[in-house]
Amino acid sequence: MPIVDERIEAYARAHTTPMPAHLESLDAATRDRFGPRAGMLTGPIEGRFLEMLVFAAGARRVLEIGTFTGYSAQAMAAGLPPGGTITTLELDTAHEAVAREHLAAAPGGDKVDIRMGPALTTLESLDGPFDLVFIDADKTNYLNYYEAVLPKLGERGLIVVDNVLWSGQVLDDEDESDDTKAIRAFNDHVVADARVVCVLLTIRDGVMLVRRR
Ligand SMILES: C[S@@+](CC[C@H](N)C(=O)[O-])C[C@H]1O[C@@H](n2cnc3c(N)ncnc32)[C@H](O)[C@@H]1O
Repeated sequence: MPIVDERIEAYARAHTTPMPAHLESLDAATRDRFGPRAGMLTGPIEGRFLEMLVFAAGARRVLEIGTFTGYSAQAMAAGLPPGGTITTLELDTAHEAVAREHLAAAPGGDKVDIRMGPALTTLESLDGPFDLVFIDADKTNYLNYYEAVLPKLGERGLIVVDNVLWSGQVLDDEDESDDTKAIRAFNDHVVADARVVCVLLTIRDGVMLVRRR
């Protein structure tokens, strides 16, 4: 189920500043290399949205969980101030290889630091505070990632969580897959969490923004 009407999505895309050539080229290379799995790319509207959040928050230290080929990391890097950094966590070496190849050629690619390994383990070795954390990896660990990063969030920090509508499957009572159940549980947990304020936005596949109270 597309969350946003396809004509509205196309109109929104046509009225969003186009992505720079290096991100268009990464998008094409990801589609060539990974076929349908390229659906994991955040794409231009969410990419620009993430860049805007980084810029508006004045974020200097950004953490991403789920690099894939580095599209969202590169998009966020464009919103950083001088000296700002993105630390991004990935598990799959095929994804890493494409991400590294394209980061090496991208303006600002040196701001992005890829850390390989299971994200929950890597997170244990990372010190905060982070100004913005983007959660976009395996859905069954969303709650674990949230609980791991909340204490590492800066005072005015923001957690951004992707795919929280899961193509609308969160509403399908017959869908009892692990991913769908994990996303429902995550959304229910966050909205009831007295430590935070959240908003669930219908951008792309659903994006949740969370801040501490
Ligand atoms: C949806 S994709 C990320 C998309 C990326 N943020 C973008 O917009 O281009 C999810 C990524 O998380 C990675 N991933 C899945 N489970 C992981 C884990 N336990 N630790 C680290 N990375 C993981 C996958 O290999 C995949 O590359």
